[in-house]
Amino acid sequence: MHVSVVGLGFVGLTTAACLAYKGIKVTGIDIDEEKIKMISNNLLPFYEPGLAEKVTQSLKRKDLMLSTDFETLSSSKVTIITVGTPNKNDGTVDLSYLQQAAESVGKVIRKKLDFHVVALKSTVPPGTALGIVAPALERTSGKRVSEGFGICSNPEFLREGNAIQDTLYPDKVVLGIIDKKTKQIMLTLYRQFYYRYKVNLVEVNLQTAELIKYANNAFLATKISFINTIANICQQISGTDVEKVAHAIGLDKRIGPLFLKAGLGYGGSCFPKDVAAIIGIAEQHGYSPDLLKNTEKINQLQPYKAVELLKIMIPDLRDTKVAVLGLAFKPDTTDMREAVSVKIIHALKALGVTVRVYDPMAINEAKKILTNSVLYCKTMKECLSEADACIIVTEWPEFRKLTPHMLRKYMKNTILVDGRRVTSPNTFVGKIAGYVAIGHGN
Ligand code: UDX
Repeated sequence: MHVSVVGLGFVGLTTAACLAYKGIKVTGIDIDEEKIKMISNNLLPFYEPGLAEKVTQSLKRKDLMLSTDFETLSSSKVTIITVGTPNKNDGTVDLSYLQQAAESVGKVIRKKLDFHVVALKSTVPPGTALGIVAPALERTSGKRVSEGFGICSNPEFLREGNAIQDTLYPDKVVLGIIDKKTKQIMLTLYRQFYYRYKVNLVEVNLQTAELIKYANNAFLATKISFINTIANICQQISGTDVEKVAHAIGLDKRIGPLFLKAGLGYGGSCFPKDVAAIIGIAEQHGYSPDLLKNTEKINQLQPYKAVELLKIMIPDLRDTKVAVLGLAFKPDTTDMREAVSVKIIHALKALGVTVRVYDPMAINEAKKILTNSVLYCKTMKECLSEADACIIVTEWPEFRKLTPHMLRKYMKNTILVDGRRVTSPNTFVGKIAGYVAIGHGN
């Protein structure tokens, strides 16, 4: 089997590298020449643990080839499209990259003699494969869907920082199809790719597969907004603790323990975008999804909880220095997209605070957004130095090492807001001047 992957962003490159790692011949295509040059020189445009090694090995073995030329996909049997589908300002999903990619793929399919499958991994509103991609392919290839070429929806559920594991050993594989020929080709590909790993294959129609992706992310986002709501309730009731509550409810098999970590809200490239998109999609279809609207609203407010808790201890923050520990939207990534740190920093700045920041990996990315509005520190110690207070914003493992002794040694005033529950209240309460942990009712 020879596969082509169109769009070498986070999902595309991970997919291409994992397919190649399993011995499948892969051609990775992207219109961005700079990006192709970088990857060819073993430099990835983003950080993902273990991915650089896999890309380098596959390029060396020639299992992975890279190109800007769509013609190179002609020798493949399946083209996986993984181009971006950002949200537009009006709440609708921008499908222009997908449309362009489909047209370029269609022109190559026109010259092919054999049946070619186009698999969509990009997150798209239900109806896109049939209503937009198939017509674009038909127009440019001069062939009919399910006759001259096949189309399927094959959404991904990768987490940043865990993308390779999630690709090689997924909880499920969703396959949206409309014809048997396409199904057979995809099953042949899966057999080779997953080999001995038994996948839970969910076979549905195209629109359902497309909706599953949004529903999956919307549910996880709702689980987070739910536990953050419980955290905010715990905050008001002395003696209660969200961690204990989460542990206990997570033992109920109907609830499950994952995604019950209370904090300052979710960020990243998927949850905020996909929750907004599914709300927009529902409204376009005449339904107001109030549950999801509240998931979003709760999440938009949650970062400010950090400032609110700090203000209880220092009511007037003017001319204070606050150390912000963690900038990336989650640990093990340099990704700053929709990172809650940005909101928190803007709120602190508006209150007249001098903000000092530290992140083990994301400083360079952060500089692009925060420019010279904050003081960038090279170490946690430097960030804490002379600070009047500290807020933990991202749960990097390094921050778990904080002790009351360290705070007393480096900070001017030992006030700590733990927004991600990386410290233990038992260790800190009463040992420093002021301590609040999200969801811990002091
Ligand atoms: C997510 C989905 O998990 C993945 O399936 C989808 O394909 C893309 O979106 P990702 O954005 O990489 O993946 O990160 P994830 O680990 O899911 O975390 C998202 C955000 O939720 C982070 O900001 C994280 O801090 C937050 N989160 C996660 C919580 O606040 N509490 C939790 O219990 C879990």
